[in-house]
Amino acid sequence: MTTSPPGSLLTAHDLRKTYGLTHALDDAEFSIHPGEVVAVMGPSGSGKSTLLHCLAGIVPPDSGSITYNGRELTTMSVAQRSALRRSEFGFVFQFGQLVPELTCVENVALPLRLNGTSRKEAEKAALSWMERLEVDELQIKLPGEVSGGQGQRVAVARALVTGPRLLFADEPTGALDSLNGQRVMELLTQAARSTNAAVVLVTHETRVAAYSDREIVVRDGKSSDMERAV
Ligand SMILES: Nc1ncnc2c1ncn2[C@@H]1O[C@H](COP(=O)(O)OP(=O)(O)OP(=O)(O)O)[C@@H](O)[C@H]1O
Ligand SMILES: [Mg+2]
Repeated sequence: MTTSPPGSLLTAHDLRKTYGLTHALDDAEFSIHPGEVVAVMGPSGSGKSTLLHCLAGIVPPDSGSITYNGRELTTMSVAQRSALRRSEFGFVFQFGQLVPELTCVENVALPLRLNGTSRKEAEKAALSWMERLEVDELQIKLPGEVSGGQGQRVAVARALVTGPRLLFADEPTGALDSLNGQRVMELLTQAARSTNAAVVLVTHETRVAAYSDREIVVRDGKSSDMERAV
């Protein structure tokens, strides 16, 4: 029997995940509070993406527990987890997440359209998020016509348009140069903080301390708090 720290939004205990002989997660622990921005660092292959996929209910761990707002994810059905993801979580990945045939504003509006919101209302909400991410001038462009940094900011707007409580971002600046990467990171964390969305941010960005409340390091599938230099 496990308990969550008081006030935590999502907590994971004793997570294990094995692929063949590889222990992708080996007794990993995680916890995040509402509105908190937690950066997840660590070497390539250490288990960061596996941790994020387990926490988000995309990949089931072999064992361990994951509690979101008092609900145990590991015993939910696939349909229940997918409903939870749609209503409570937002996602930003490294590349290729925008639909190439839709304009930027249509991409941002898409999650609302899929929930049954009218086109006019969905595009109005999309545009207000695009303004916050400073990409509103790109509304009628196709994803193929915008820069990498702009595309990532459009993807962040799309992840936040439904008002998620928790945003999962896996190396959202991994394909950008450092200047564009910092700008995306700044706008992503600012936008999330403005709605009190918590953020699990897997990143290699060296200035991550400026954007996060806390950093954890994953090594060989184990997670630990990182001491922050002050
Ligand atoms: N679907 C899979 N099938 C087989 N092995 C996998 C799978 N996903 C991850 N692994 C293995 O699990 C380990 C952890 O992978 P993971 O993708 O979580 O690392 P990471 O920390 O995100 O690395 P990177 O920084 O390169 O993205 C690696 O050894 C990887 O090869
Ligand atoms: Mg990864």
